[in-house]
Amino acid sequence: MRTFVSVDALLDEMTLEEKIGQLGIFADMLRPFAPGINPEMNARNASELTEQIRAGRVGSLFNGIGVEQGREAQRVAVEEARLGIPLLFGADVIHGMRTVFPIPLGEAASFEPALAERTARVAAIEATAAGLHWTFAPAVDIARDQRWGRGAEGAGEDPFLGSAFAAARVRGFQGDDLTADDALLATPKHFVGYGAVMGGLDYNSVEIAEGTLRDVHLPPFKAAIDAGALTVMSAFNDINGVPASAHHGLLTGVLRDEWAFRGFVVSDYTADFELIAHGYAEDERDATRVAFNAGLDMSMQSGLYGAHLADLVRSGEVSIETIDASVRRVLEIKRAIGLFDNPYRSLDAGADAALDLDAHAALARDAARRSIVLARNEGDLLPLPRAGTRIALIGPFAQDRDNLEGCWTLFGDKRLHVNLEDGLRAALEDPSSLDVVPGCAFEAAIDGGLDAAVAAARAADVVLLAVGEPQGFSGEAQSRVAITLPPAQQALAEAVAATGTPIVVLLRNGRALALEGAVRDAQAILVTWFLGSQTGLAVADIVFGDANPSARLPVSFPVHSGQQPLFYNRMRTGRPELPDMTEFKARWREGPHAPLYAFGHGLSYTRFDYAATTVDAARLAWDGTLTVSARITNTGPRDGEEVVQLYVHDRVGSRVRPIRELKGFRKITLAAGTSETVSFTLDRHALAFTRADGTFGAEPGRFDVWIAPASDRGEAATFELLAG
Ligand code: BGC
Repeated sequence: MRTFVSVDALLDEMTLEEKIGQLGIFADMLRPFAPGINPEMNARNASELTEQIRAGRVGSLFNGIGVEQGREAQRVAVEEARLGIPLLFGADVIHGMRTVFPIPLGEAASFEPALAERTARVAAIEATAAGLHWTFAPAVDIARDQRWGRGAEGAGEDPFLGSAFAAARVRGFQGDDLTADDALLATPKHFVGYGAVMGGLDYNSVEIAEGTLRDVHLPPFKAAIDAGALTVMSAFNDINGVPASAHHGLLTGVLRDEWAFRGFVVSDYTADFELIAHGYAEDERDATRVAFNAGLDMSMQSGLYGAHLADLVRSGEVSIETIDASVRRVLEIKRAIGLFDNPYRSLDAGADAALDLDAHAALARDAARRSIVLARNEGDLLPLPRAGTRIALIGPFAQDRDNLEGCWTLFGDKRLHVNLEDGLRAALEDPSSLDVVPGCAFEAAIDGGLDAAVAAARAADVVLLAVGEPQGFSGEAQSRVAITLPPAQQALAEAVAATGTPIVVLLRNGRALALEGAVRDAQAILVTWFLGSQTGLAVADIVFGDANPSARLPVSFPVHSGQQPLFYNRMRTGRPELPDMTEFKARWREGPHAPLYAFGHGLSYTRFDYAATTVDAARLAWDGTLTVSARITNTGPRDGEEVVQLYVHDRVGSRVRPIRELKGFRKITLAAGTSETVSFTLDRHALAFTRADGTFGAEPGRFDVWIAPASDRGEAATFELLAG
């Protein structure tokens, strides 16, 4: 192993080819995550890759795990390659590694960034124990259209909530010390506007106003970078005609010039190559030129940089200074995580066996129950008593073990997972009081299924109806035209409801859904997303009241699919729908503009009353602060947690302002019968937006402000922001 002196000294020694080698990342065929698929081909790819590492042409590998093979690959890089530059190992560790936590969208429902920080930390501990340094997470895309399947990977529709979760996840993955064996580099993705693809169609174009891009989609990236993220992944989509992965104004203008981002940008998969299909580059050489010159430092998997960058430098179309700047960024990060001092960090043979999987399971269970939203609970049907009640668990998710994790989990350890049936049975005093019937398959009827389900419902005191989307319905490339339940499941719900037995819906979902008929009208609805390893146990904790629901929707649930895109912080129209006036108003022929369940909505087994929102002054000076308060009382029968939400509305702006915007939230615990005054501090920076002239700042004038339990609730107080 060579002695490392400095990044600059190393750069001086590197040939152009060795430099370019650091700017490519390739699938880790030395330890593929699906070794059973095509083993002969894997072996050939592995030996070719080893040759490339030896030749100094490969700087990073992705989506392979395994400590032993990782050490061997690293040994080749540091012992056999001329300059001995260690490899960086990346992978998609999105919401857990062996232990799978709720999908990020579900976890955002907790409104507890500190929880996301803890689960990301555990994911990092498990990932680094498997030989990884770097995760392609968090996804921080704001998803305002629920047809898009990748909302499951992010934190929902709101930039304020999304920014808080983005920062928390970065802190959790990376920990306090980047050189620690269990520090995992984070990658906010996909930069940028990916969640705004037209029609919710994955990979589609994005037409977006500069103000919306800046006020809605960029903030979570900024928050992630401010929290210490050192890499960013570019997006597949184009933005107003320029592909994000070749967008100089964003990759260089915003990231480098405005934000002074020091890290590197990696392409989303083969996004550089895809510039040809976009019609933005003529051929591979052209695609390399435009992507690299725009600021895309590292190319994933396409091999374009290795094939064309050297020639582009020789022809003068790419400058050696730009190459050096990108290579320096990559090497600086390898240095920052301690790879030059200890290339075998995170490649410790004993680390996996030393994992405290029981503690990780306990956290997964807590995270799961903190992610479950009680959307409806007519007549306080929930919680159920754990004895003396005959329960029918009906639906295709009842016994299923393949749809617990949700999208984008490559390494989940299925042996650790608990499904609904097992979790519920374990919680019952008499396990035989649970009758389990699938009723139908995910997308098709099964012979005798409805009859069996109806019989079970008739014989039961209460039905737990486990319906929703299979996990393949959300995630990458999983856009939907109608965000409803598959017809076979809807038919099951209708048949079961016709028995008259009360129903608790256990909804499985990777997005907000348009609930219909018997599912929408069930006595109780628990929105359970994909909860991960501890699904069954966490659902049982909520169903039987061992845990009191405290989560809130991070996405609006529409009345109809056709309302998409539907989000609470929409701009005001000139024809707002009014409760007693709907003609010639902004509404649909078939239904309202309003959601079924608004952003921020969620019930508890207790009740919280909000006193009026108050402000400590009618005027906010330009450089001053304002305190907004409300007294909240737990008037219900048990202790509980409440997510107190602060919203503002700017009455007049140089650009039309959203009807409400989240500006603060706090989860408080209140014992039954107790009260607490919750206060938030506002200043003009919290009221800033991208103004009509393109500058960022607040505008003097009147504002409404609410402290409320959801985005559609509460009585506003007002204040005036005075000019400076
Ligand atoms: C996805 C990314 C992911 C990458 C690498 C792409 O298809 O869009 O989110 O990080 O693959 O696996």
